[in-house]
Amino acid sequence: MSVSYGKLVIVGAGKVGSAVLNSVLRMNIIDDIVMINRHREKALGEVLDASHTTAFAYSSNASIRVGDYSDCRDAHIIVITAGPSIQPGNHDRNTLLKKNVEVMDEVMKQITTYTKEAIIIMISNPLDVLTYYLQRKYDYPAGRIMGTGTLLDTARFNKMLGDLCGVDAKNVVGFVLGEHGSTSFIPWNTVNIVGVPFDDLAREFGLKAPIDKEALLSETKSIGPHIVDLKGYTSSGVSLAACRIIGAIVRNEHCIVPVSAVMQGKYGYDDVAMSLPCILSKAGIDRIIELPLDAQGMHDLRVSHDHLRELIEMI
Ligand code: 2OP
Repeated sequence: MSVSYGKLVIVGAGKVGSAVLNSVLRMNIIDDIVMINRHREKALGEVLDASHTTAFAYSSNASIRVGDYSDCRDAHIIVITAGPSIQPGNHDRNTLLKKNVEVMDEVMKQITTYTKEAIIIMISNPLDVLTYYLQRKYDYPAGRIMGTGTLLDTARFNKMLGDLCGVDAKNVVGFVLGEHGSTSFIPWNTVNIVGVPFDDLAREFGLKAPIDKEALLSETKSIGPHIVDLKGYTSSGVSLAACRIIGAIVRNEHCIVPVSAVMQGKYGYDDVAMSLPCILSKAGIDRIIELPLDAQGMHDLRVSHDHLRELIEMI
């Protein structure tokens, strides 16, 4: 039997917002789903279309409707997808910074008029910078605002490494951490499949050549932009990343996934948000885990931190 409760507000009825709406409906874990969009008709179209899918599902009796920001008052979770996204040929998520800071200011002014209780999941890019900026500027409770961050990159990495080794991606234990962008990194010393460390995977799984770490990391980073070049946007992966977080919160899972949040002193930093492994429960982020990084991992984390800090200084 599935758990079913809670109210979810989705801000933005673009490709990603509508993918979140459709994916979350399939999960049967939310009673009340509200979509907000600057152009109400667009949200109405998405909601109407999605509402007819419930006739094909076994237990999707969720109420789905178009609303406004006053709906945030009693929302449990708010997913923010508003603002422009990267385009074919323009892959740098950071070029969206100026515009999306403006958009987010509008959105957060509205949300915080009604609540500081809801758990906010930021999807809009550059999400680490936006997550940091919004938490600090609106004094939003730590642990209640997070970005999907490298949960998506982690899913991509796990799938690629799983495919290489001929095993299910879900058997791969390995996080992509840091910025959801060019400075994301993989702490290779912590990557394993059922306890077999990364450096032994090629031998254990019968690969003809050692696995090229640099190539794997670079491919992990370039997949998002590559998809954008091919189809104009990305939506499936990131919407399921958001749904993974929503499920963890609604089910009070206490699972560990990498999401973007202000670092709260981890590794000595408190002045950026980046993805680190976090324990998620109905309270949001219960705890950020400080993985034991080797010298290379510490170096990569510093590079990501310094880059994010530079971007924050530009706001
Ligand atoms: C992605 O990586 C574009 O950030 C988006 O799918």
